[in-house]
Amino acid sequence: MNSTLITKPLIEIETPLLAIAVPASTELPASLAPIDQITGGAVSRALASGDFKGKRDETLLAYGTGKARRVLLVGVGKPAEVTHNIVRRAAAVAAKRARALGTGRYAFAIASEARNGLAADAVAQATVEGAAHGGWAFIALKRPSDDLRGAIAEVDVVGEPADAKQAEVGRVRGDAIAAGHLLARELQMQPGNVCTPTYLANQAQALGKTHGFPVTVLGPDQIRQEGMGGLLGVSQGSAEEPRFIILEWRGAGDAAPAVIVGKGITFDSGGISIKPAANMEEMKYDMSGAAAVLGTFEVLGRLRPKLNVVGIVAASENLPSGTALKPGDVIKSHFGKTIEIVNTDAEGRLVLCDALSYVRRYNPAAVLDAATLTGAIVIALGTQASGIMGNDDALVEEVRSAGERAGERCWPLPLWEEYRDLVKSDIADVKNSGGRGAGSITGGWFLREFVEGFPWVHIDIAGTAYTESEATYQSKGPTAFGVRLFTEFLLRRSGA
Ligand code: BES
Ligand code: MN
Ligand code: ZN
Repeated sequence: MNSTLITKPLIEIETPLLAIAVPASTELPASLAPIDQITGGAVSRALASGDFKGKRDETLLAYGTGKARRVLLVGVGKPAEVTHNIVRRAAAVAAKRARALGTGRYAFAIASEARNGLAADAVAQATVEGAAHGGWAFIALKRPSDDLRGAIAEVDVVGEPADAKQAEVGRVRGDAIAAGHLLARELQMQPGNVCTPTYLANQAQALGKTHGFPVTVLGPDQIRQEGMGGLLGVSQGSAEEPRFIILEWRGAGDAAPAVIVGKGITFDSGGISIKPAANMEEMKYDMSGAAAVLGTFEVLGRLRPKLNVVGIVAASENLPSGTALKPGDVIKSHFGKTIEIVNTDAEGRLVLCDALSYVRRYNPAAVLDAATLTGAIVIALGTQASGIMGNDDALVEEVRSAGERAGERCWPLPLWEEYRDLVKSDIADVKNSGGRGAGSITGGWFLREFVEGFPWVHIDIAGTAYTESEATYQSKGPTAFGVRLFTEFLLRRSGA
């Protein structure tokens, strides 16, 4: 998706669809007078009749005689409550509508009455992010046809001439984030027979080549040599080989890097502890953490910030077979601790624990992992927030607030010492499942057993990585959760 900043007056914009974010109101906002004129008074009549009130997500499509073939008003509600997250959402509503109309591109402006003092860069960034979010479509695997609507190819960000420079900064940042977001979503959407661990590794290598950063890929032999018994164990039931993928963005000399780790289970059947058949196809999304890491490296490659970031993807399938891990098996992790496998469906923590142990060599300033780790987090928080937990309260809060700004909400769960008992094993150092109660916390505690020497936060994205909802502002399917959060976290750290 492309984006361009334009600073013309609204009625001078030539576009198949001019979307304008408008405040809740019963009369015509002054800035829309020229638009009302070119639509023959349709806008003021809709407001006067009360058919359109400018409430959040509400839309009004009108046809006029001006340079904009269509005008779409998108309500943002009370002006005093407008934030950049609301702008992103309005841009997404417009994008989704533009996609349904098949316009391919649209322009997005925010009426001055709805701006609420937001900075020009924040508005422009949110606009491009929203366009990518709402304008996404995946049609690559369908037979081409006339009524198949592709993704939005271009958004024109309408800014004020006075703050064009600042808006352009935000547009560029939004554009990079949009690219990372779309890459992550594309990877998530690919079916398991396409997106294998090898495929993820190839994608990572292609990213490194495009943007000029090093990517290292370990195959089964090197994974064995490293002693990563968790990753190796999970992969041993599958014909697909595991991959351990390392991406490095070095923009700040030898400063301690931030590390982002992604769970890359390209299909999770549960293994011998097999899952029920219903909705099992959704488990192609079990590599969503990996997609967030790769998407973030797309953003880094485009923005080239002055900071050091290491990205890790631990990639495997989880399938049952005669060579698969069995309940009761004991394996040895990279860290050295032994693990009793009580449930082969608790595989994410097995691949992640080796990654968290491996990254000690970087002396990280902070480590964040994103993983579709537990069904329990969906019970606890639903689809509105990811669960976060870690070994450092300040870092947990840093991640929570980055997520809030990025529009990817996170909420903390406690890793109290008392919960630790639940992952103790009779036969090994730890066991890989703590049972039904506190399922997300015991997942977190399991990981913590392998974290040593750095502040760390685990982000459980099982409820947020994909959605069933066809809301006005999003489409059913993958969400790329984590790309915006990671980017916001990293850029804030770099002081950018
Ligand atoms: N990939 C699943 C978690 C998941 C569930 C992701 C729903 C997305 C939606 C994970 O590997 C898993 O199976 N976790 C088990 C852990 C249990 C066996 C301790 C779970 O949540 O049931
Ligand atoms: Mn599982
Ligand atoms: Zn899983």
